[in-house]
Amino acid sequence: MISGSKQRSAEDSGGDIIALHPRRERVIALTGGKGGVGKSTIAVNLAVTYAARGAETLAVDADLGMADLNLLLGVAPKKNLLDIINGAKVDEALVSCHGISLLPALNGSFALESMSESRRRAAFDAIESLSSRFETLVIDVAAGLGANQTEFAGAASEVLIVATSEALSLADAYACLKVLALRQGIKTAYIVPNRVRSEAEGEEVFSRLQSLVARFLDLELICLPAIPYDRRVNESGATGVPLVRAYPDSPAARAIRLLARRLDTVAVPDTRGNATRSFWKGILAE
Ligand SMILES: Nc1ncnc2c1ncn2[C@@H]1O[C@H](COP(=O)(O)OP(=O)(O)OP(=O)(O)O)[C@@H](O)[C@H]1O
Ligand SMILES: [Mg+2]
Repeated sequence: MISGSKQRSAEDSGGDIIALHPRRERVIALTGGKGGVGKSTIAVNLAVTYAARGAETLAVDADLGMADLNLLLGVAPKKNLLDIINGAKVDEALVSCHGISLLPALNGSFALESMSESRRRAAFDAIESLSSRFETLVIDVAAGLGANQTEFAGAASEVLIVATSEALSLADAYACLKVLALRQGIKTAYIVPNRVRSEAEGEEVFSRLQSLVARFLDLELICLPAIPYDRRVNESGATGVPLVRAYPDSPAARAIRLLARRLDTVAVPDTRGNATRSFWKGILAE
């Protein structure tokens, strides 16, 4: 098994980790093409992990049709991105929970799911207005390959593709990588194998994607630590307390903390003065 038999190190024994770059400004997007592979779970737990390490962290629910970060975080937001687009102040929608801030979406807001260019820009604008307050943005991108998804994902400084070993997930992850490379010009993507039952299964997810990408795309793939299948994930999801808080010693929670640290060591630091700010400016300037 991936982590059950591993020796516990001081580093992965809780939230009290000494971060390498705790306050580095960056924007992490979780995507993957296919639905139900674990994007929201990993987004929430990664955000809470970075916050526990001292970074002011904002989680953005960009799954505009099927918002669920609020459920995973156990909060019931009064306002959401749709209200902001319609003129509400962005602060009215922000929710503080588990050490992070959440910019929620709205469940069943189908109008947002397929929003127009101008509404999408209004959403970006709202997030841009927040970006100077936060060092780390974690964006949960919806499944699918439409403009909403690829624009949110393609502009992040670090794009994490969540994939399981199922053939459909691998096919969708590759399709996602292809669109991001060809349409958004990304040069590097990080693969997070999820729900794996052995270390070999995680390696298989990466090597399958890698062999396709090496043949057809000009894209560097970096493998991040795999997240094991762990029934605690579902249990914590149902109670609204993120796994890394509810079950900090569970195998998946430990893997997510390892993932956060590994991302710090492998990600190329963004040299822009204010990565979050210029990230959104880059989009808005197009
Ligand atoms: N490592 C894991 N071990 C066990 N169950 C998991 C794991 N990761 C995710 N799950 C479960 O898989 C289901 C889907 O997870 P999640 O909602 O995070 O996926 P998603 O990619 O965000 O889905 P959607 O595309 O519908 O938004 C949930 O029931 C969650 O509890
Ligand atoms: Mg989701």
